[in-house]
Amino acid sequence: MDDDVSVNLPEQLQMIERETKRLGFSMPSDRQTGSLLSTLVTAKPAGKFLEIGTGTGLSTSWLLSGMDGKSSLTSIEIDDKYQWVARQFFEQDKRFQLVAGDAGEWLRNNQSMKFDLIFADAMSGKYMDFHVAWNMVAPGGFYIGDDMLPQDNWPENHQPRVDDLLGFFETSHDCQYTRLAWSTGLIVAVKT
Ligand SMILES: C[S@@+](CC[C@H](N)C(=O)[O-])C[C@H]1O[C@@H](n2cnc3c(N)ncnc32)[C@H](O)[C@@H]1O
Repeated sequence: MDDDVSVNLPEQLQMIERETKRLGFSMPSDRQTGSLLSTLVTAKPAGKFLEIGTGTGLSTSWLLSGMDGKSSLTSIEIDDKYQWVARQFFEQDKRFQLVAGDAGEWLRNNQSMKFDLIFADAMSGKYMDFHVAWNMVAPGGFYIGDDMLPQDNWPENHQPRVDDLLGFFETSHDCQYTRLAWSTGLIVAVKT
């Protein structure tokens, strides 16, 4: 077995990958993370899903491709020049809602909403406002965070933030979690 994930690609993925390169977007999610996300949402029929950090819509394409017709996905992005790409590809999809703005603010304003999977792919909801995001994971729901292994594009002095997040999962009484050396290093946590 190897880590090839070139089969069952979402229909729009390669076009979005091309557009992502053209824009010079430097923080794209890779196919391995996408493949895992797609698999996990398939396990949650009629699920409600949240993505923090749409970027250009790469991980969005994987999430939507794994979701059934009764599921819904909300995705938040602060930078419209990136989110614009996702909008071109997915705005016709009735299961999908794009939010333009600051994720931290949105999370704090929507605490009563609960999700069956949250993909945390921005500082907000992962290193900032983590507890606000964790509070929105439904019982049995997944919290997925990437970039847990050192990356070239990490900001300075980032390791302590990652350690704090992993420390939370180690000591928390309301989660079951696994650290995966897959893709950029993933945390897969389930709310108990
Ligand atoms: C790692 S990238 C996301 C990659 C994306 N999931 C993909 O599939 O390629 C992080 C994204 O979070 C966005 N972002 C940063 N701060 C944010 C905030 N406070 N609220 C919402 N989005 C934010 C960035 O503009 C960037 O597009």
